Amino acid sequence: MSETATADLSVVGKAHARVEGPLKVSGVADYAADRDFPGLLHAVPVGATIASGRIKTIETDRARQMPGVRAVFTRGDLPPMSRVTGDMAEQTKVDEKRPPLDDDEVRYYGQFIALVVADTLEQAKAAAEAVSADYEARTPAIDPQLVADKPEVVHERGDAAGAFDAAPVKVDAAYAIAPEVHNPIETHATVAVWEDETLTLYESTQAVVNHRNVLADMLGLPRERVRVVSRFIGSGFGGKLWPWTQSPLAAGAAMVLGRPIKLVLSRPMMFHAVGHRPRIQQRVRLGADPDGRLMSIQHDYVNETSILDDYTEHCGEATAHLYRSPNLRVTGGLAHRNVGTPTSMRGPGAVPGLFATESALDELALALRMDPVELRLANDIDVDQRYSVPFSSRHLKECLTTGAERFGWARRDPAIGAMSKDGEVLGWGVAACTWQGARLGCSASIDLREDGSARVTTASQDIGTGTYTVAALIAAELLGLQTDQVEVALGDTRLPAGAISGGSMLTASLVEPISAAVEAAGKALIKAAISGKDNPFSGADAEDLAFENGRVARKGGNAPALRFDELLRMLKLGRVNGSGSGEGTFGQKSKPKVSTQSFGAHFVEVAWRPQIARLRVSRVVTVIDGGRIINPLAARNQIEGAVVMGIGMALFEGAEYDHRSGAPMNANLADYVVATHADVPDLDVCFLDYPDLELNRLGARGVGEIGLAGTAAAITNAVHHATGVRIRSLPLRIEDLLAAA
Ligand code: MOS
Repeated sequence: MSETATADLSVVGKAHARVEGPLKVSGVADYAADRDFPGLLHAVPVGATIASGRIKTIETDRARQMPGVRAVFTRGDLPPMSRVTGDMAEQTKVDEKRPPLDDDEVRYYGQFIALVVADTLEQAKAAAEAVSADYEARTPAIDPQLVADKPEVVHERGDAAGAFDAAPVKVDAAYAIAPEVHNPIETHATVAVWEDETLTLYESTQAVVNHRNVLADMLGLPRERVRVVSRFIGSGFGGKLWPWTQSPLAAGAAMVLGRPIKLVLSRPMMFHAVGHRPRIQQRVRLGADPDGRLMSIQHDYVNETSILDDYTEHCGEATAHLYRSPNLRVTGGLAHRNVGTPTSMRGPGAVPGLFATESALDELALALRMDPVELRLANDIDVDQRYSVPFSSRHLKECLTTGAERFGWARRDPAIGAMSKDGEVLGWGVAACTWQGARLGCSASIDLREDGSARVTTASQDIGTGTYTVAALIAAELLGLQTDQVEVALGDTRLPAGAISGGSMLTASLVEPISAAVEAAGKALIKAAISGKDNPFSGADAEDLAFENGRVARKGGNAPALRFDELLRMLKLGRVNGSGSGEGTFGQKSKPKVSTQSFGAHFVEVAWRPQIARLRVSRVVTVIDGGRIINPLAARNQIEGAVVMGIGMALFEGAEYDHRSGAPMNANLADYVVATHADVPDLDVCFLDYPDLELNRLGARGVGEIGLAGTAAAITNAVHHATGVRIRSLPLRIEDLLAAA
């Protein structure tokens, strides 16, 4: 498809219900934990009850004698496991690098110290309860005040400190975010089958290829003898990007016992065993001239990480390019604590970073007595100052003006608490957002079949975001088919090596490999047509023929084109196949020629009832500049879900740790509160739909995470407008607002 042809697309850009929807609502979709096999045994891990110390002894005799128990594994009982280097480009990334049961040290509460395997889940659970350990315990390092071990400069230009000192208007504020836990409804699950020296893992993973590579390397198995299958997952939000210890535990048990092993984590285990967004503290200093032009930005952040792993939350991700500032300095650092290893959580880096910087910008607007939308417009820029290159497609201004228009921002009275409706005080807040636009290297294959259908395959996965549908739409568009004529197979390492479902990058990553596969299939079809003795294009060579829209025709001729299925039937061929791949742009070290980023703006209304200290988010308008939207229905769903997650981040979510034991104290969905349907406000999501042809021929960038970026700041900015209380620590507690009640 040429660039000009993208103007009239037939299926891409139109709303499509998910192609896999019927499988899900009818219960047919097979999630990892749904897998069953003859002889399958159930495994339940045992977690440490201290956060720091050494295991002296583990008492397993009682558990071993309980009904149905087949094995209790402790250190040394599983096949040897190696550490893995962990490289995202190599698809060997893992955040918790220590294999399970590797030594007797305990470094976080709940760290798995044993694994019980039994005939039934109930037997395994009961026996796991009966395992006890004797520890040499130390006082855990869980101080919530974070000081970076070794802060590092992440971005710097000009003289940020000097320009800040000289600036006539300044903000200097500190922001904190409590640890957040992904909490997908499907908990992490592994079903491991060891058969014919081959390991098959049915896994809840956002990255089958990466998972296969890590498990093979960890277990010392050739990669071709490890298969990972993840056809459906019940969401991940980043918590299922990289392998966690439950998977090698299940694999090791299956290898030792020669029986299929099912290991499904409990909800409480989700709070320490599979990553979380770490506790983060940030300081933002902004200096501006009296017209609101930024003269200096300083952004310093530190995140908690575990004792062994250096997980960095790149909070400065968006700081250096969202607004113009000649002087800037961004630093980051880590504080090691006795907590489980953190990991990517939806919009890692930019999401917590934008909470701080977009809050500080609101504080600056107040100091300047300037409208916060005007302040953002005044600092817009069309060059990415990190690299001094233009943005491929940046429409932040239009996001702000369109959002303001749809929201009715012009009616805003800037005075605190001045607006009300139906007895409630209204607060209106705004925040901008940005998220990377990037591609990952990815391969795909396509079969064109004699019945007129096509089958697309890639070892990427649909994590609930709509990838089956996106892949079907792309192929249907290129082949002139309807979506239901395209079958899509994903989530299996036996398919052509695919990309992770992460960073909102998969949609953009799929366009080129599927296009290349279609082209290759067209070439194969032409070759088959001209090589038979009855060439339907009488005497034509390959160069004389073209494959477009699923049809083969003579170039420049006016003879009717033949659809691929007609041609296949004439040739008595069942199918032709083509494979293709696309290069990645993510993580490139060299300076890019242009900067590819998505942008957006959130406008939030909160309703505050001071008589009973009740706050709710009542209305949100979000405008996203996310490239071409392949499927507006799924994209809207992504942004709506992300905005609702932003409500959770602002108002509810935060893991609490016992300061003595280091245990997550609210490790359940009653005490760790996530936003529910009852919290969902009136949501208006709008896409600007400017194709970004830098990324692929359809101009798709992919969306999801950007909907969470900036949302919490827009909410707390609205809270300030309603109550006069500036919330600098998330989640907001109602007691923070009592003074205003
Ligand atoms: Mo997302 S945190 O890249 O799954």
